[in-house]
Amino acid sequence: MHLDTKTLILHALNAKINAYAPYSHFKVGAALLCSDGTIYTGCNIENASYGATICAERVAIQKAVSDGKTDFSAIVITAGSDYCSPCGICRQVMREFCERDFEVILAKSETDYVYYSLDQLLPFSFSNESMVEQDENV
Ligand code: THU
Repeated sequence: MHLDTKTLILHALNAKINAYAPYSHFKVGAALLCSDGTIYTGCNIENASYGATICAERVAIQKAVSDGKTDFSAIVITAGSDYCSPCGICRQVMREFCERDFEVILAKSETDYVYYSLDQLLPFSFSNESMVEQDENV
């Protein structure tokens, strides 16, 4: 096993401890690896106004971006006894900052994990690359 993957999974498992999930009781932890080797973690933070809930992945990404980091190479997501796949909003937020080969690692434990490229999870995506100048006559 790649040592960085194991380290990243441990960070995600640890981040899950602080999950604030009194409504769903579904705790999630995430660990984001920046290209410079820095790791940012996140947990889901729910709200009585359910729409104000934020997923663990976006917390990790937003913490990193607010610290001036925008180059990422992988993220680990961990929840319960099953693999936890990122929601659509999180996939889109990943696409804002990450290339198509960004690694999304879904981990049940340190030794039990699978990974997908962002392009597998969000094919034919809309990103800043999609926004070519529009013809004003159209
Ligand atoms: N959740 C995450 O944090 N990440 C995911 O990838 C899926 C869902 C959270 C949001 C909410 O707090 C709870 O899990 C149930 O949807």
